Amino acid sequence: MNCKDQKVSVSTFEKEVCEGLSAFPKYLSSKFFYDEVGDELFQQIMELPEYYLTRAEYEIFETQKSEIIRGFDSDNEGFDLIELGAGDGKKTKILLRELLDKNHDFTYNPIDISENAIEGLVKNLDLEMPKVIVQGQIGEYFEVLDRLKHISDRKKVIMVLGSNIGNLLHPRAIQFLKKLCNAINPGDLLFMGFDQKKHPQKVLDAYNDKTGVTAAFNKNILARINKELDANFDLDKFMHWETYDPESGTAKSYLVSKEKQTVDINSLSLEVHFEAWESIHTEISQKYDDDIVKWLTEESGLEVVQSFTNENQEYKDYLITKATK
Ligand code: AVJ
Repeated sequence: MNCKDQKVSVSTFEKEVCEGLSAFPKYLSSKFFYDEVGDELFQQIMELPEYYLTRAEYEIFETQKSEIIRGFDSDNEGFDLIELGAGDGKKTKILLRELLDKNHDFTYNPIDISENAIEGLVKNLDLEMPKVIVQGQIGEYFEVLDRLKHISDRKKVIMVLGSNIGNLLHPRAIQFLKKLCNAINPGDLLFMGFDQKKHPQKVLDAYNDKTGVTAAFNKNILARINKELDANFDLDKFMHWETYDPESGTAKSYLVSKEKQTVDINSLSLEVHFEAWESIHTEISQKYDDDIVKWLTEESGLEVVQSFTNENQEYKDYLITKATK
């Protein structure tokens, strides 16, 4: 069946679920993890002892906030801070606090695919930092990029934290960075987190925690299809599986069908057949080093001006500008 022709107007979720589960091999996009339940599970992931990324970036901000802020607003002219994939904004608040304390003239524009996350963040900032001018937006990275130009004609600093770019394979990351490059003016900045290559076991453990929170997070995409598209996935008949390839630096998540089975997705009028041990690929979490980040930025018309790392150097934030050529 052709997924596009099925209904007059189908949501992105319906269309992509239909496409991904009709394809061989099967896949679903990790952007669909984040509904209310998924947001909560991701909060729990960030607290896991195995999930070092959040703490590493937190450490960078805590220890180097004044240098980072100086990088953002070196000429003290004021700027608009835009954050793609802001989530709960916990780390960002360290920078916002510092910007307030040092009397910088700025606005904060968090953008996230999760409506739930944006609502919570805007409310929370209103209480905790009423002096910050906040303008939240809901949307996907690629679609909001076009809106960025119109936010204002001030200097922009665009943040993508948490190694969120790692959900994109290199060709799509370059596409994304090129779009960012086109959306900004000379003098504007990108501030982006890139999780670094490290002991493969450490990466694997971060996405395969003992308590099964990551497994529940991964399976939430099936729960969401059940809820929103009237389907009957039995979550116990699937297992979470993680791999890490140290050569490519790619961690990959799968849901593997433990038996031969058929699932009905009623609102798509779709029957999905699984062979025993057939997989659904759900997420990639790319790991980097300085050479790869340099290559990605150069391919996209950008260049790295400065980088910040934590004590054990497992994670880095890069300050990036348009290349001067
Ligand atoms: C939010 C995309 C950065 O890939 O590390 C955490 C999501 N997935 N555990 C990541 C995630 C499984 C996370 N990002």
